[in-house]
Amino acid sequence: MTSKRIELTPELFRRADETDDARFYQSPRFVTHIDDAAIAAVTTLYREYFPAGLAVLDLMSSWISHLPEDVVYREVVGLGMNREELAANPRLTKFVVQDLNREPLLPFADAAFDSAAICVSIDYLTQPVEVLRETARVLKPQSPVVITFSNRCFPTKAVAAWHSLDDAGHLKLVEAYLNAAGGWRDIELLDRSPKKLFSDPLFAAIARRA
Ligand SMILES: C[S@@+](CC[C@H](N)C(=O)[O-])C[C@H]1O[C@@H](n2cnc3c(N)ncnc32)[C@H](O)[C@@H]1O
Repeated sequence: MTSKRIELTPELFRRADETDDARFYQSPRFVTHIDDAAIAAVTTLYREYFPAGLAVLDLMSSWISHLPEDVVYREVVGLGMNREELAANPRLTKFVVQDLNREPLLPFADAAFDSAAICVSIDYLTQPVEVLRETARVLKPQSPVVITFSNRCFPTKAVAAWHSLDDAGHLKLVEAYLNAAGGWRDIELLDRSPKKLFSDPLFAAIARRA
């Protein structure tokens, strides 16, 4: 399947649970959503793509950002749904509670950040093209967005498109989102699954702000 063949029609963004996301995320979940080996693969990617000293935007953030502990960033801003989780995240210098499915416009200035991350969450966006267009707007030129995911999800909140595709299809879907959003170049689709037996797989779609 090529990204050109994925037509992003509205029915692809329906969910089994269409109730307000604020309800689903009202209680904090102090858990990890992928295993340690997959988290280590995310951290390795951040080490490769997010140099020290820069400003990082962690979209769809929680109590853990997976950034390398020894790397100091100028600022790390988190945006997510649960205030308690975000307040407990030791890496965040600032956070915003915002439902991107209600308001996909980001509350940040143009070119405010040097890098952006979306970890194991892209499958919950009902307007991913708008959110990625906004992500490009708030990044400086050449800055990377690192979108990672595995093969697990909250099924009732993941969009229909996600359920209809396999791992390779998910990579193509995210590529289609980035292409539809515009403002992105050098899209890479990576399988960074840990070699460890039985660990969670880990995939990444990475692009640079044009
Ligand atoms: C599976 S968790 C992943 C959290 C974190 N990125 C991580 O790697 O552990 C999904 C996250 O997406 C966020 N999220 C889900 N729906 C959202 C929405 N509509 N707007 C903003 N954030 C959302 C939730 O707050 C939650 O933290």
